Amino acid sequence: MSNRPALPPEIGRRRTFAIISHPDAGKTTLTEKFLLYGGAIQMAGQVRAKGEARRTRSDFMQMEKDRGISVSASAMSFDYDRYRYNLVDTPGHSDFSEDTYRTLTAVDSAIMVIDGAKGVESQTRKLFEVCRLRDLPILTFCNKMDRESRDTFDIIDEIQENLAIDVTPASWPIGMGSDFVGCYDLLRDRLELMDRSDRNRVAESVKIEGLDDPKLAEHVPAHLLDQLREEIEMARELLPPLDHQALLEGTMTPIWFGSAINSFGVKELMDGIGRYGPEPQPTSAEPRQIAPEETKVTGFVFKVQANMDPKHRDRVAFVRLSSGHFERGMKLTHARSKKAMTISAPVLFLASDRELAEEAWAGDIIGIPNHGQLRIGDTLTEGEALKVTGIPSFAPELLQGVRAGDPMKAKHLEKALFQFAEEGAAKVFKPAFGSGYIVGVVGALQFEVLASRIEMEYGLPVRFDASQFTSARWVHGPKAKVEAFTQANKQHIAHDSDGDVVYLTRLQWDIDRVQRDYPDITLSATKEMM
Ligand code: G4P
Repeated sequence: MSNRPALPPEIGRRRTFAIISHPDAGKTTLTEKFLLYGGAIQMAGQVRAKGEARRTRSDFMQMEKDRGISVSASAMSFDYDRYRYNLVDTPGHSDFSEDTYRTLTAVDSAIMVIDGAKGVESQTRKLFEVCRLRDLPILTFCNKMDRESRDTFDIIDEIQENLAIDVTPASWPIGMGSDFVGCYDLLRDRLELMDRSDRNRVAESVKIEGLDDPKLAEHVPAHLLDQLREEIEMARELLPPLDHQALLEGTMTPIWFGSAINSFGVKELMDGIGRYGPEPQPTSAEPRQIAPEETKVTGFVFKVQANMDPKHRDRVAFVRLSSGHFERGMKLTHARSKKAMTISAPVLFLASDRELAEEAWAGDIIGIPNHGQLRIGDTLTEGEALKVTGIPSFAPELLQGVRAGDPMKAKHLEKALFQFAEEGAAKVFKPAFGSGYIVGVVGALQFEVLASRIEMEYGLPVRFDASQFTSARWVHGPKAKVEAFTQANKQHIAHDSDGDVVYLTRLQWDIDRVQRDYPDITLSATKEMM
């Protein structure tokens, strides 16, 4: 990474990242503070309040509220200091891992938020593993230091051991719980003091000359100061110093301690992303990689969301720009269909609302409203035939049959199902034998989400029933062999929403048998989106 040429300043100042955490660790609160400092919202509480207002609009959102999960991911942009931050929101619930995985293909780094009392929790670990698959740089924020939390060394040890990553303290907490007064900034030798009287007041920072500066004693009670000196001495001995290269390679994470709700430590974290977080990185593609500094515009769709605004039946394709300087009205080639598309109404997701984007640079996320032409995994270019790679579609782990409550509405159901397939919310299979559809998802909760969305968006009550199949595999091989295989195994064959052949079964034994009896056929649990 370090050998890459300097980027044009507009691109070099972009930081595109996601937040990974276990529910309740403080992701929403932290996001809100980011937006507050970025000037994107005026008051803390607005993200949530706006969320509530939005939620009351639909049953589906009602479910989101009841379950306390966020189903739809979005992207938000804001400026702070000299950086442009693009925060891509990851759905928090473990049932949506596929969506999350794809979201993480659109970012250059991730912030891992942990609760200081709970440490590394299950969902954090899962998301961390996904980041590791892509060697994403990770910055850690240990939140809720205003409450009783674990010993600082224990927290760091746990991360190192549990996640097998080196941890370097960027700040060090002074006291904890009701004794917590702030942090010592190890990267800049400063003291950051938390203001308990006003949650929205940003910490005061006191410039000091190292740990022996007498000024320290004016701000830190004597017993905490002794402890701080001792701990920092130990930390410097036992823990590795910040190694920027290791951070960029994803083998070391710096950790900041703070309290999002008290606006404490958040600015330091933002500074950290700006200073150490990576700038836009190259994108893997066939037949060649795309570098962000290339003057021609390229981008790829990592998410499609339909009916973001119930008043308009539009869908929005979320596109991560991989290179170049995009301007509104540009004509881009949709690489899959080779058709030109004029991008006349792209949207930038400024936190407060959607806004028309006049321009955007590599690293930015823009939304392109469309009528279904743009699908997950699609590449947009200025004409070159490129295909971004590494955006997989996973075989669903749960399958169910689906029927419209009213048999006359079968066509409507088909339309709804195809829309969700396009969004990547579910896999839809049409069995070669019999009627109806089989829907596949990664997590059980998704069936409920789908049922409530179909009812809400299409006015169509539906029923999901147990299916005789439990596994789906994409069938690959030479055309004639696939045809022969299809003919001989009709009861197991279905087609997905792209028309690709899928083998359905309930037995691993069947899958092994196919692989033994049909050496030219491969059954695969993932398919590259195209
Ligand atoms: P999430 O998005 O990761 O699920 O977490 P969220 O920000 O919603 O925070 C979860 C709970 O933790 C919230 O409390 C929030 O106020 C609280 N919280 C966040 N940061 C801090 C912190 O630094 N210190 C302390 N003490 N609490 C924090 P809640 O009671 O669930 O919601 P609310 O009533 O505050 O809205």
